[in-house]
Amino acid sequence: MIPQPGFGTYKLGDHAYDAISSAIELGYRHLDTAQYYFNEDIVGRAVNDSAVPRGQLFVTTKVWHDRLNQRDFLPSVEESLEKLQLDYVDLLLVHWPEPTGQVPMAEYLDELAKAKQQGLAKHIGVSNFTIKLLDEAVDILGPGEILTNQIEVHPFLQNSRVRAHCAQLGIQVTGFMPLARGRVFEDDTLRRIAQRHGVSPADIAVAWENQLGVITIPASTKVANQQANLAALNITLSDADMADIAALDRGQRLADSDFAPAWD
Ligand SMILES: NC(=O)c1ccc[n+]([C@@H]2O[C@H](COP(=O)([O-])OP(=O)(O)OC[C@H]3O[C@@H](n4cnc5c(N)ncnc54)[C@H](OP(=O)(O)O)[C@@H]3O)[C@@H](O)[C@H]2O)c1
Repeated sequence: MIPQPGFGTYKLGDHAYDAISSAIELGYRHLDTAQYYFNEDIVGRAVNDSAVPRGQLFVTTKVWHDRLNQRDFLPSVEESLEKLQLDYVDLLLVHWPEPTGQVPMAEYLDELAKAKQQGLAKHIGVSNFTIKLLDEAVDILGPGEILTNQIEVHPFLQNSRVRAHCAQLGIQVTGFMPLARGRVFEDDTLRRIAQRHGVSPADIAVAWENQLGVITIPASTKVANQQANLAALNITLSDADMADIAALDRGQRLADSDFAPAWD
C-alpha cells in the first residue's frame, strides 16, 4: 500500500529540487515531506515536472503541531496542497502529538478525518505517537483508519515495543532517520556485516528495516547514494546478521525535543 522505499526530503537544502527529481527518475515512488520542512513547493515542482504520472506517485505531508486546532488544521492542509500544486496528498500525518494539552486529540483527529472525507488526503496517519497515544487515537478514529505511525527507527533506536503494538493494531510502521543521519557508518558491527555483503553500512541499515517490514525513507542529496538505498532492498540479511543488528539497540534517540511526548 505504501511504496517501499520512500524518499526523505528533510534538510536537502539547495539540492532539494535536483535530489527529488533524480530520486523520482531512479524509481522512488513515495516522497516524504512536511509543512515544517518548508520545501512542499519544491516537492510539488519536482513532482509536476517529472515524467511520472501523478497517480503513480505517493506523496506524504504532515501538519505541524501549532496548526492542530480546529481553526487552523484544514486551512493548513489547503495551504500545503497549494504549495505542492496537488489536488490531494496520498498520506496526511499529524507530525507530532499536540504538546500543550490545549487542543484535545479528538479535535485534531476529527480534522484529520475530515481531510480524508473531503478528498484532500487519500489516507491518514500519525507520527511520533507512543503506545498510549496510539490507543487513544484508535479509540477516536476507529480501527483501520490510521495507515501508519511514522517513528524514528534505526539500528541504535529500534523502537521494538511501539513496532509490536502497531503490528497488533494493524498500523504500518514508517521508520524515519534509517541511517541515523550517517552514524551507521561509525559502527563496527554494521561495517563488518556490510563488508561481508560487499555493500555499505547504509545499505545494511536500509535492508534491515525492509526485512523488519518497516517502510524506510532515507534521504540523500547524491544520486549514487539514492541508487544504493534503492538497491539495498535486494539484500537478504541472514538470521545471524539480524540478531547482531538487534543487539545494537541502545535507545539512542536523535529526533527529540521539548515538545516530544513521554516516550515508551
Ligand atoms: N516524522 C518525523 O518527525 C521525522 C523526523 C526526522 C526525519 N523524518 C523523515 O525521515 C527522512 C530521513 O531522515 P533524515 O533525512 O533525517 O536522516 P537519514 O535518512 O537517516 O540520513 C540522511 C543522511 O545520510 C546520508 N546518506 C543517505 N544515503 C547514504 C548512503 N547510501 N551512503 C552514505 N550516506 C548516505 C545523507 O547524505 P548525502 O546527502 O550526502 O547522501 C544524509 O546526510 C527525512 O528526510 C524526513 O523525510 C521524519
